[in-house]
Amino acid sequence: MKQLFSSLIILALVGFIAGVAFAFSGMFNVATSWEDPQLMKWLMVTTREYSIESRAKSITAPELGSKEQIENGYRGFRDMCVICHNLPGTDASPVAQGLSPEPPDLAEEADHMSAAELFWVTKNGIRMTGMPAWGPTHDDTELWEVIAFIKAMPELSKADYRKLEQHATTGNSHDDNHQTNNANDRHPADHN
Ligand code: HEC
Repeated sequence: MKQLFSSLIILALVGFIAGVAFAFSGMFNVATSWEDPQLMKWLMVTTREYSIESRAKSITAPELGSKEQIENGYRGFRDMCVICHNLPGTDASPVAQGLSPEPPDLAEEADHMSAAELFWVTKNGIRMTGMPAWGPTHDDTELWEVIAFIKAMPELSKADYRKLEQHATTGNSHDDNHQTNNANDRHPADHN
């Protein structure tokens, strides 16, 4: 028993020294340009999913889905998220294309993740991926509005997006064919 214990300690020490030597050797390629091996991907995704699930358990979502929340949430999404997460019908930005792991399509995640899980991630970020934490700079009400918009995404039509875009740029939600002067070509209102 004693011998097994000391063998385990020696093994742990060798593993630790090998890990430190590997870090100093420069052998690991930190570039984003190569695909994560399947095992590493699985480990990262599984760790992320269980971590988010267990931390979001204690969060109770407020009532979400009012028109005002979705309009404000769209504006928030447009300001904070579109640089990495596409709106439906738009191409991935150069920032999104350069990230590894790639930022997911949140219109799809809206059906797979609970509002509390989406909120936890948005507030706290995901370390070592490029997904920032928005909690230090935005209050919970603003973040819940973004979640209300994400949850509504699967139901929104092209016309709804046009109205939201119009409201975000002019403050007017009526579809009066008013042309907005929006220089950012990554919004679906410009992709009809
Ligand atoms: C600088 C790029 C960047 C910005 C800006 C960004 N994200 Fe992310 N986000 C990512 C990346 C990369 C991932 C993938 C992380 C991973 O695979 O573990 C991610 C993942 C997520 C996830 C988790 C999806 C899942 O399957 O677990 C949610 C939710 C999310 N982002 C919401 C948002 C929201 C809401 C905003 C805006 C308030 C935002 N993100 C802004 C890069 C970004």
